[in-house]
Amino acid sequence: MNGPHLIDNPAELRPGVQRRRSPGGVPGAGGLPDGGSTLRGVSVIIRVAHSSDAAAVGGIAFETGFFGGSAARYFPAPELFSVLWAGPYFAGAGAGLWVAEDEQGVAGYVVGSPDPAGYRRALRQVALHRAWRVTPVAAVPAVARYLVRAARMPGPHASEARFPAHLHLNLLPRLRGQRVGDALLDAHLSTLRSLGVPGVQLSTTSENRAALRLYRRHGFEVAARRLLGLWTPWLGHPAEHVVMVRGLP
Ligand SMILES: CC(C)(COP(=O)(O)OP(=O)(O)OC[C@H]1O[C@@H](n2cnc3c(N)ncnc32)[C@H](O)[C@@H]1OP(=O)(O)O)[C@@H](O)C(=O)NCCC(=O)NCCS
Repeated sequence: MNGPHLIDNPAELRPGVQRRRSPGGVPGAGGLPDGGSTLRGVSVIIRVAHSSDAAAVGGIAFETGFFGGSAARYFPAPELFSVLWAGPYFAGAGAGLWVAEDEQGVAGYVVGSPDPAGYRRALRQVALHRAWRVTPVAAVPAVARYLVRAARMPGPHASEARFPAHLHLNLLPRLRGQRVGDALLDAHLSTLRSLGVPGVQLSTTSENRAALRLYRRHGFEVAARRLLGLWTPWLGHPAEHVVMVRGLP
């Protein structure tokens, strides 16, 4: 994993959100160093994720995995969700892994992979070697139901040749609405540029309105949309899946 990075462009951050080097890695139990001016008394740092953040990132993925709410309603196996959704990025396939941390701990992340084949390899590895250990038997029918539906109703994708990277961005509710998403996305896109990646794609739905606005602000455009019944049993209606793309000149 990379060491901490400092990005000197804090102008658009709301008070209390700082992109900063964290010299000793994750601040210890004594609290965050150098809080600066704060919003509602809370200080947030954006830092490179370490492998020790994998469980926290997986936990947030689960807590936000249903349109910003908990994935528990369709996937009642939090550890398995964490392994499948966060594991590949921390198992060698990821780049530009950043977290947002406040005084209560890691509460947001951006993860992604610039290498589709490497990502699929890493996903196979974690699925084969770790998934069975963390799947409660009682959860198997619900998990299988979701995975079969997802396999039968794939969302749209953009060209992997033009947009080889993909990313995921999620915040716990306590960090939302403070432009933390902007800071994480800027950091991630800078990393991709420094690696010479030509373009990036992401998947969302038209239900995720805040996310759509944020991605448009960062130059993403809609490449494809598809109405799918994947979420109907839990959402009550079909959802329009949206793939957005951005070149990285
Ligand atoms: C989508 C998300 C990454 C946006 O990041 P963010 O840092 O909250 O973005 P912003 O600070 O720009 O706020 C987003 C919008 O929500 C509004 N908002 C304000 N307070 C909010 C709160 N407490 N909770 C949610 N949204 C809030 C903001 O006003 C803003 O509206 P605007 O775009 O019209 O200005 C983040 O809200 C999130 O993780 N949501 C849940 C999971 C999700 O949808 N992830 C994306 C999946 S593709």
